[in-house]
Amino acid sequence: MSRKMLVTSALPYANGPIHIGHLVEYLQTDIWVRFQKACGNTCYYFCADDTHGTPVMIRAKNEGTMPEELIARVHREHVQDFSDFQIAFDNYYTTHSEENRQLSERIYTGALKAGSIVKKTIQQAYDEQEQMWLPDRYIKGTCPRCRAENQYGDSCDVCGAHYQATELINPVSAVSGKPPILKESTHYFFKLSDYADALKKLFEAGYVQESVKNKLDEWFATGLKDWDISRDGPYFGFKIPGEENKYFYVWLDAPIGYMASCKNYCDRHGLDFEQVWNSGEYEIYHFIGKDIMYFHALFWPALLMAAKMRCPDKLFVHGFLTVNGQKMSKSKGTFITARTYLNHLDPQYLRYYYATKLSGDVGDIDLNVNDFVNRVNADLVGKLANLPSRSGPMLTKHLDGKLGRPDDSAADLLEELRHAKQAIVENYETLNYAAALRLICTLADKCNKYVEDHQPWALIKTDPEKTRAVLTAVLNAARLLTIYLKPVLPAFAEKMERFLNIPPLTFADTETTLENHVINNFERLIERMDQKKVDAMIEDSKQNTPPETTDTSAPSEATLEEPLAAECTIDDFMKVDLRIAKVVKASAVEGADKLLSLELDLGGLKRHVFAGISKAYKPEDLIGRLVVCVANLKPRKMKFGLSEGMVCAAGAGGSEVFLISPDPGAKPGQRVH
Ligand code: MSP
Ligand code: ZN
Repeated sequence: MSRKMLVTSALPYANGPIHIGHLVEYLQTDIWVRFQKACGNTCYYFCADDTHGTPVMIRAKNEGTMPEELIARVHREHVQDFSDFQIAFDNYYTTHSEENRQLSERIYTGALKAGSIVKKTIQQAYDEQEQMWLPDRYIKGTCPRCRAENQYGDSCDVCGAHYQATELINPVSAVSGKPPILKESTHYFFKLSDYADALKKLFEAGYVQESVKNKLDEWFATGLKDWDISRDGPYFGFKIPGEENKYFYVWLDAPIGYMASCKNYCDRHGLDFEQVWNSGEYEIYHFIGKDIMYFHALFWPALLMAAKMRCPDKLFVHGFLTVNGQKMSKSKGTFITARTYLNHLDPQYLRYYYATKLSGDVGDIDLNVNDFVNRVNADLVGKLANLPSRSGPMLTKHLDGKLGRPDDSAADLLEELRHAKQAIVENYETLNYAAALRLICTLADKCNKYVEDHQPWALIKTDPEKTRAVLTAVLNAARLLTIYLKPVLPAFAEKMERFLNIPPLTFADTETTLENHVINNFERLIERMDQKKVDAMIEDSKQNTPPETTDTSAPSEATLEEPLAAECTIDDFMKVDLRIAKVVKASAVEGADKLLSLELDLGGLKRHVFAGISKAYKPEDLIGRLVVCVANLKPRKMKFGLSEGMVCAAGAGGSEVFLISPDPGAKPGQRVH
């Protein structure tokens, strides 16, 4: 019997790019959704950008743009990244939408009516210069425990201590660099403890995996605290009804974004949202990472209960990605964005590799770079793609591309392939993709052995019709394997469908055999993975994270005529990240008499800068030239656009400007010490 379901992945923040850590989740979910659809179930996959909150507000400000503009741009980037990874949402929406505003108000009002909202006056850090409230992450100072400098307001990266922002020694605002003050304000709190019993019942009913339950027990043991759901303006978010300058905290409206995405889809497809979400006709599942369990296991269902709306059936929690056994790191080149990956490698490699690693538990999963290359080449290319690619062309070349009937010698093999369906389906359903792929690979080994045993390339010389029967068996075997692989490798499956000249495959097609049928010419299914491309991708991902600068004042430009600047320490100097850069584009700036607009390549990293050098240089003479660039300068919004760095030059200005260039041999991206 076919099922109806709604599936979501956590909504990625709109303040940064999608990276390969995120992709663990979106690929895990996408594979599950594709599997459900291939089984004939109705399954909608909803997601959205998580757009509200302080980080988006601050990033927009630093870039000299409006939050709305920033989130629109990031939305476009995210959508492109996901689509290039073949992640197929039924709707990819935004939390900054009218649907989300209305649903947030509805749920908040429900909680209010239920008596689960209380007001309390609290003290919070405030940046007087920027006139804004500071979340803990935006306060920096010296760790009260180990005295490490420059630590965040909630925890210390050096010794791991957790503390209150008020305990930091010499705290400063990360926005203005000035010490914050403590100020009182009234906030709204959601009384989570009102729902303790109901939540326990939900967990008994199987809301989370067993391994997650222990963590929940710990939280229950320490007691459920009231949750602060409001923030004072300025804040990028939804205003709280009846308030002038108070907003919903981003984590209140973020999960409601699941619903808003669903509602938006329903409205556009003639479905009734209330029926879809609330009637129980549809199963509801959320896929999330372990870091956001508290929100999804406690706050979210409690809010839904307060608003008398339907709770999801289950959370699927996954672990974190490590690369070569360690956290992703920018300096090691293992913090790889989706886009950088796509610039070098086929997305199917990662889809396949993650699937071999995912088994449905909360453990972290490791992308070991050597294993990645070996596994993909040995199994995906060497076994799975090899099977049709050694048999297909022979049939089209020598036997008019016409399938006959599978040879009797293959009856057991084909039966075994069909019989495996049940186990494979169970493994997909329980998120144990690793086990499904192990089984599929074992089957592929047997199929390849069948080919070895029957040697069609020799047989064709003596018995073309027997060869046709053998090849028909092999291609039917490949077709069955393709059905099983399709949730993981949709593009591979599409090529197979084109080659076999058949409509899209589903799991029901395991029942049938392709006989007496004309196929198309074979097209290569997948290329071998090239280690050099992996190395290049990692090289491309290496960049020194610019130290967070706290100085927002415009830098002054020194000239040779000036006296020496105030003394600085080596540490001060090291803060300035000078890089060799190649000028890739240069043009005059209309309306500015001194400026040239330069596009610089810092070894893969791009920077756009304005330089006051047009009296001394013609744009066309600069193209291809190496210069020295301040690469970690905070981007500045100038009259003509955003400047993301400075190029180094000597001279008094005007026509007397001398660009600094390295000796021959230096390469773009190298650091200047
Ligand atoms: N915006 C919130 C989620 C709101 S859901 C109502 C958020 N965004 S996120 O961009 O930080 O993460 C999105 C998802 O990706 C989360 O489920 C998170 O756990 C997952 N991952 C982010 N980095 C990850 C890894 N390095 N490894 C595995 N998953 C990771 O949290
Ligand atoms: Zn510390």
